[in-house]
Amino acid sequence: MSAENSAYFLAGAGDERTLQANAHAFARAHITPRPLRSLGGGSTATTLLGKPLAAPFLVAPFAYHRLLDDAGEIATARGAEAQEIKMILSAQSSVDMTRLRAAAQSCDWFQLYWMGSREATHAVAQSALTAGFTTIVLTIDAPVQGVRDREIEARFRLPPDITPVNLAHVPRPRFAPLADGQSLVFDRIAPDLPDWDDVAWLIETMNAPVVLKGILHPEDAAKAVQIGAAGVIVSNHGGRVLDGAPATLDVLPAIVAKVGSAYPVLVDGGIRRGIDILVALASGAKAVLVGRPVVCGLAVAGELGVSHVLRLLRDELEVAMLLAGCATIDDITPEMVHLNR
Ligand SMILES: Cc1cc2nc3c(=O)[nH]c(=O)nc-3n(C[C@H](O)[C@H](O)[C@H](O)COP(=O)(O)O)c2cc1C
Repeated sequence: MSAENSAYFLAGAGDERTLQANAHAFARAHITPRPLRSLGGGSTATTLLGKPLAAPFLVAPFAYHRLLDDAGEIATARGAEAQEIKMILSAQSSVDMTRLRAAAQSCDWFQLYWMGSREATHAVAQSALTAGFTTIVLTIDAPVQGVRDREIEARFRLPPDITPVNLAHVPRPRFAPLADGQSLVFDRIAPDLPDWDDVAWLIETMNAPVVLKGILHPEDAAKAVQIGAAGVIVSNHGGRVLDGAPATLDVLPAIVAKVGSAYPVLVDGGIRRGIDILVALASGAKAVLVGRPVVCGLAVAGELGVSHVLRLLRDELEVAMLLAGCATIDDITPEMVHLNR
């Protein structure tokens, strides 16, 4: 990966406190194995929002895959599909969503940002449903880009031929970096930011499940349940927005306790090994999202690289389950995990 791409894809915001905290939280966690349990007929299969999943993880939405491979998001989605793993397509995809759907039918979750107005946000979500996506992931934690010093130092710039093609008709995407000479961030951005009423409106008007991504507080998770979100993703955007936000694993148990273990709570940030998936599930998550490991697979070997990374994760999860004494996902329970916070 070039220095510029590495600064964009792998770095975090600010001093990378949150980026590091995500990984450290998993490094501190332990699982107590339960040997000699019967493991016959075991599997990683599970269900999420009523649909089957071969394993409890998905590819996190991340932007501009064409920076890493010419086939871009199509390479990632196909590599994931080869391992029966679902990819969530980013709003900032560098490949047209209809082409993507034609190439990889299993990719049917579309991630969306608030697009500045109810109408614009609804229109993009609707275009995703028209293209065949079934589930909308609304990311709520990045109203403005975080302070990404390493990107600035590396002078990262998008090449002119790589753009968020699915947002071509959206007037002013909110994730755009601040332009030189612009005055206060509040002046420029705050008037167009959504609040809970806007999100409730979107959920009510969409004819599809909407999952909220970027929840870190139990009260916000409860609010998501109240307004009819189909699930929440406990996420700090992989440490790319508020540097100083807590590690996701540290806040996950309190969120699950607040909304109840039947509600779909997912988590991402710092998941690098099969054992991390086991820890997240024992801490109450129904499934996890994996970002940068997939970035690395795509950068090293395109579709095949993505497939390889996801195969490793699937195999590691199976080994971890076997060694821990869990035949099924339901056997992964909270008393096995010690978070050592
Ligand atoms: C380069 C990059 C781009 C990202 N772009 C998006 C995005 O467009 N939409 C979004 O909701 N999250 C985005 N994310 C956040 C990921 O979905 C996810 O929350 C995070 O990467 C998970 O942490 P991990 O990389 O430690 O696994 C991005 C992450 C990275 C690294």
